[in-house]
Parts: sequence; structure tokens; C-alpha cells
Amino acid sequence: MALVKLNPVYPDPEIITRAAQLLRGGRLVAFPTETVYGLGANALDAAAVARIYAAKGRPKYNPLIVHVADVALVPTVAAGWNDAAERLSHAFWPGPLTLVLPKADAIPEGVTAGLPTVAVRVPGHLVANSLLAAAGIPVAAPSANRSTQLSPTTGEHVLRSLGDAVDLILDAGPTPIGIESTVVDVTTSTPTLLRPGSITLDELMRVVGRVDQTTHAAGESARPAPGMLEKHYAPRAKVFLVAPQDVGVRVEHERANGLRVGALVVHASVEPTPEIIIMPADPAAYAAALYASLHTLDDAGCDVIVVEKLPETNAWLAVRDRLTRAAH
Ligand code: TXA
Ligand code: MG
Repeated sequence: MALVKLNPVYPDPEIITRAAQLLRGGRLVAFPTETVYGLGANALDAAAVARIYAAKGRPKYNPLIVHVADVALVPTVAAGWNDAAERLSHAFWPGPLTLVLPKADAIPEGVTAGLPTVAVRVPGHLVANSLLAAAGIPVAAPSANRSTQLSPTTGEHVLRSLGDAVDLILDAGPTPIGIESTVVDVTTSTPTLLRPGSITLDELMRVVGRVDQTTHAAGESARPAPGMLEKHYAPRAKVFLVAPQDVGVRVEHERANGLRVGALVVHASVEPTPEIIIMPADPAAYAAALYASLHTLDDAGCDVIVVEKLPETNAWLAVRDRLTRAAH
């Protein structure tokens, strides 16, 4: 394994070429996207894709997202396209949106966990896009963390979670968006939001009109909806979601139990310590800081993380989703 540092806006072409060669050779390369770091492998190579599952300890029923350099390459991985796909890709690609489309035959079953559909996105990060262009292949890439752990927003997070399981880590610093892409299934008669992300429900509806929301899948069959492992995006510490007015009391209570207590607060007033993190009051800024903050509190050895509950509005949907899973 090797971690190499790259300039996020002027990535060294020699390093990109080397990483692209590794991908073409069936190896695993972790790379930054605008959302989180991905663990990439050649999406057309079943053996390479199997290595992703092994490295992550990922259950076989959890399908992967395929990344392509440009919308023009979607027909190499997907067998269908429609008006909703056209509008959404036009509005949000390159960017943090994943579309679920009918799968092309060239995509091995391992990528889609046997589903007839494939999740596709064109990322909006110079390193990711340079790598995809240089590799000239579609790249399957889940978040570059061990299964059920926190997603990585820095190269260091990838190194600590996956270590030697990765052939190369491209480290271009913190990812700007900080939570995973919005996933929308466009094979349903009304587009269906499968995973909330930084592109909000309201933004989607402005482009395609109605958008349905999924309910959680159960059981171990291939999951039509993402992140459906009940415990997902979780730090090591136990996470409690607490109403703003109760945060202070809860923190004191846990401290009185002799526990090392961290907190993510926006408005709540708490006796400050280095482990009390004041989070931004803006949903996008909060999302950008979320995983990095949880990683920090884990690293500080917190037993418990008290998180101030956030408003029940659509703007906070993606952040609430990740926090609910972390608290499961
Ligand atoms: O922002 C992101 O999407 C990041 C970066 C690396 O692109 N990737 C990511 O991948 O979050 P992952 O594997 O952690 O999450 C992919 C989600 C899974 O939870 C999976 O259930 C869903 O996408 N998914 C993949 N294929 C699907 C399909 N055919 N139908 C429905 N959902 C699918
Ligand atoms: Mg993930």
C-alpha cells in the first residue's frame, strides 16, 4: 500500500497515470470525490470488483456505484435512459448525484449484487475525473471504509480504515461536500429518492416535479435502496440524538457516569471541552464537517457522542439520515 499526496486542483499527471494503470490492471485505488473518498476498481472486471467486497468486508447484497468520466459514457454501463435521467444528469452532473438505471450486460453481477439495475454517477472532483479519463474504464467505487464504519473524508481516514487492503491511496485533502451522493432511482414511474444527500429533495423536485421517498428494505436480499444496513456510517463511540434543550444535562449525566463524552452542538449551551464541537448552523456546512468531527471524537477516545437533534426540514434530511444511522 502507498499513500501519495496530490494537489486537488493540479494533480500530478504521472501519479494519475500510475493510478489509472493500477485500475486497468485489476487493482484497488482509493481516490477523492467531491463527496467522500471512494475505493475504486475496474467495474468491468469481476475479480477486481470482488476485491472491493473483500477489502471492505462488505456484504454481497450491497451493490456498488459505478463512476464514469462523462455522461456520454453512460451507455457503456447502463441499458436505458429516460426524461428524468436526462433532466437530472443535465442539472447535477458532474456532481453528487447517483442515478439508478437499467444495467448493461457488460457490468458483472458483483457490481449490482444481482440487481437488474446499476447505480451510476459522474463525479465532480478534478482528481476523480482525471483518474476516470486516464483509466478509460468505468470505475466501481463504494466509500473507502470498512463496511459499517464512518465514510472517509481524508486520505488519512482511508489509510486507517483499510490500510494494506488498498494498492494506492490518492490523498488530495478533505473532500468538499463530506457526505455521500444523493441516490435517485429513475427506473420507477416517479423518480424515487433512495438516499438523501447534499442535493436536496427540493432541488430534485424543481427539476423533475414529483419525487417519491423510499421506505427501508429488510432482510438480506439485494437491497434496492442504499445504505440499508441498519447500522451504517457509525463511529466506534455510542451516539445519542438529544433535543437541544436536553444536551447540557445529558452531557453532564454521561460525564457523571465516568465516561469520556463528546458532543456535536449547534445552539445548545454546554460547558466547553475540546470534545464539545460547535457545528455550523447551515446544513451543507454541517454535512461537510460531520464525518471529520465524528472521526475526531473517535480518535479522542470518546465513549459517548451526544448530538443535538436537527430541524425536521428537507434541508436537513441528509444529515438527519446519517445521524440516525450513526445512532442506531
Ligand atoms: O458519494 C458517493 O456516492 C460515494 C462516492 C465514492 O462516489 N460512494 C458511495 O458508495 O457512497 P457506497 O457503496 O458507500 O454507497 C452506494 C449506495 C449503496 O448503499 C447501495 O445500496 C446503493 O448505492 N446502490 C448501488 N447500486 C444500486 C442499485 N442498483 N439500486 C439501488 N441502490 C443502489
Ligand atoms: Mg458507504
